Amino acid sequence: MYSAITTSLENAILLITINRPDKMNALNKTVLDELNSAIDEVYNNNAIRSAIITGAGAKAFVAGADISEFQGLKHNEGMDLAHKGQYIFKKIEDAPKPIIAAVNGFALGGGCELAMACHFRLASDNARFGQPEVNLGLIPGYGGTQRLTQLIGKGRAIELLITGNMLDAAAALQYGLVNYVVPQDELLNKARSILELVNTRAPLAVGRCIKAANAVFDHSKDGFTEEVNLFGECFSTQDMIEGTNAFLEKRKPNFAGK
Ligand code: COA
Repeated sequence: MYSAITTSLENAILLITINRPDKMNALNKTVLDELNSAIDEVYNNNAIRSAIITGAGAKAFVAGADISEFQGLKHNEGMDLAHKGQYIFKKIEDAPKPIIAAVNGFALGGGCELAMACHFRLASDNARFGQPEVNLGLIPGYGGTQRLTQLIGKGRAIELLITGNMLDAAAALQYGLVNYVVPQDELLNKARSILELVNTRAPLAVGRCIKAANAVFDHSKDGFTEEVNLFGECFSTQDMIEGTNAFLEKRKPNFAGK
């Protein structure tokens, strides 16, 4: 079905692997289109409760947008590309199901932006993060200037953006860019074990936690009002009745996601 990514579904977790290891999993047009379709699958397929995005091979998560596709582009075409990347990455950020990045190597440029669009990140100990676009006469275009600043603060973000320097996994952990650093052969198991736990929680409540947290960064919303509304909505779900009943009856809840 896909040619530049692979997907596999196990225990309700969709593993999405960017699969161009000979090109450091660079995001060309095909990868972006297929990633967009895979994210649509996460939204629409009830058998999927959460997802992991990773890169094929041991060297790269994603080493950026495919630089060979930049040549000859004009002002408007550059804007179109940024719009497209931002649209897909925002779809990841807004997903009602957790999507996490398992960063297994270089996460540069669009790769760092992809990881940052995910709800949180885990890294293998060989991971490297950076926004090296200034080396190309460019700036990040898929949300990197915004999400990097949100995640690690303005001073650190601007230094990384204007130097193009890379952060190693230990520094990324110290900056709060990733939640965990583990040996590469444990990366997917660690990601899966977190999502397997999340998948036992009330799915609609999980989605609302993500939505409420995202509201912090949405200038069109007041996050506290958003929280009030989302909290109220929970009271009209079967899952809330099941969760509270199960607690009072001293049994495990069985959530239907309704
Ligand atoms: N776009 C297109 N091709 C890329 C790429 C990208 N972002 N990143 C790597 N590749 C390709 C290389 O051109 C090379 O292809 P080739 O074998 O056909 O020559 C292949 O992937 C392997 O990369 P290489 O540079 O030989 O590996 P390395 O181990 O020496 O270096 C990196 C790894 C990630 C440090 C280096 O590839 C790099 O700096 N990539 C670009 C990062 C970047 O600027 N990203 C932002 C883009 S906006």
